[in-house]
Amino acid sequence: MTTSQAAPTYRVIQWATGKVGRQSIRHFVENSAFELVGVLVTNPNKVGKDAGELAGLPDTGVIATDDVNAIVALDADCVHFSPQGTLPDLEMVCRLLRSGKNVVTPLGPFFRTERTREYLDTIEAAGQEGGTSFHGSGLHPGYMSDLLPLTLIRLMSRIDRIHVYETVNFLAYPSNYIPAMGFGRAPDDVLANPSRSADTHHIYAQSMEMIAHTLGATITDITTTLELATATADIAYPGGLVEAGTVAGQHYEWTAWADGAPLITFHGFWIMGDAIEPRWDCGDDTGYRVVIEGDPGLELNISRGGINNDQDDNGALPWTGYIGANAIPDVCDAPPGVITHLELGVVRPRGLVRPGSLLR
Ligand SMILES: NC(=O)c1ccc[n+]([C@@H]2O[C@H](COP(=O)([O-])OP(=O)(O)OC[C@H]3O[C@@H](n4cnc5c(N)ncnc54)[C@H](OP(=O)(O)O)[C@@H]3O)[C@@H](O)[C@H]2O)c1
Repeated sequence: MTTSQAAPTYRVIQWATGKVGRQSIRHFVENSAFELVGVLVTNPNKVGKDAGELAGLPDTGVIATDDVNAIVALDADCVHFSPQGTLPDLEMVCRLLRSGKNVVTPLGPFFRTERTREYLDTIEAAGQEGGTSFHGSGLHPGYMSDLLPLTLIRLMSRIDRIHVYETVNFLAYPSNYIPAMGFGRAPDDVLANPSRSADTHHIYAQSMEMIAHTLGATITDITTTLELATATADIAYPGGLVEAGTVAGQHYEWTAWADGAPLITFHGFWIMGDAIEPRWDCGDDTGYRVVIEGDPGLELNISRGGINNDQDDNGALPWTGYIGANAIPDVCDAPPGVITHLELGVVRPRGLVRPGSLLR
């Protein structure tokens, strides 16, 4: 951290320049609370390019490299670690932590469960050794499914059940992954071989366990259901076609049970527009809804205020980058070790109000 009479500046490295990574680079470059000092890429075509060029900005003077040793040798406060994957490379994260760099990552893990305990204990030890902290951030899980309900329950007197709804419209925000996600396949085939792994509930279980832990409840089981919708007509998207009669919608439900009753349900609606049957009542744009049944009942809807055609401004993905990026100062300032939302408390994002940015 660089301190001057003005607010401190956090020296950050962006690890990987996918959709989340590119949005994060923009945030680090445009926000005076940060100084971008390094960018790690795996794609050989990106090596040697300026971080600004990769993120659609003017040149920054920071040149992307695939040299891991050079990145680890940099003097930096934090690595925002967002490569492909569902779990960060444990050895690499520990190496970064031991080298004196805090790590914030949308890959998680987010909370200790039976599945993640050993992994996070190893990270904890590396953080203690390096005097650094690790925070698994993310949108869902990582924010909508845990931090948001945990914030809202303070408005309640009694909780009977918590629902978190996610809708992603892949027709509005086309992704390279549409075929891999099961769209365009025969319904029987997707039911026999779902595009989401049977292990997916272990990822969401971290958010569920965080909520249950806070409420003093014990989760005894997590169940999964999958319902499909089919295309009522051919659906064309940039890069392909979902033919009529094939899968064009997927509705997952993951439910955490406590004391013999459903306590938390995460509803995931993935849709390819509205020419689908059944047409679920899930809205037609990417967004999130938290519903808490109890006394008093509560409902919160979150959606993007307008669509930007920037290819990186892809639905909720900018949120994924900013949730982690905005936590970096507090994670850097936190005691060493694994820092979940419960330790982090209220994050104080820095540099969001910028000179000249206020509407007059
Ligand atoms: N919790 C959440 O809510 C949430 C939401 C969205 C995403 N995520 C996580 O964030 C990560 C990044 O998302 P994204 O949308 O930016 O993904 P993405 O656009 O697919 O980009 C991932 C980047 O990883 C790098 N990469 C490519 N091949 C790789 C490999 N074999 N091993 C490691 N890295 C490789 C590439 O960057 P370079 O060419 O620059 O190296 C690629 O651009 C995802 O993996 C996902 O786990 C979490």
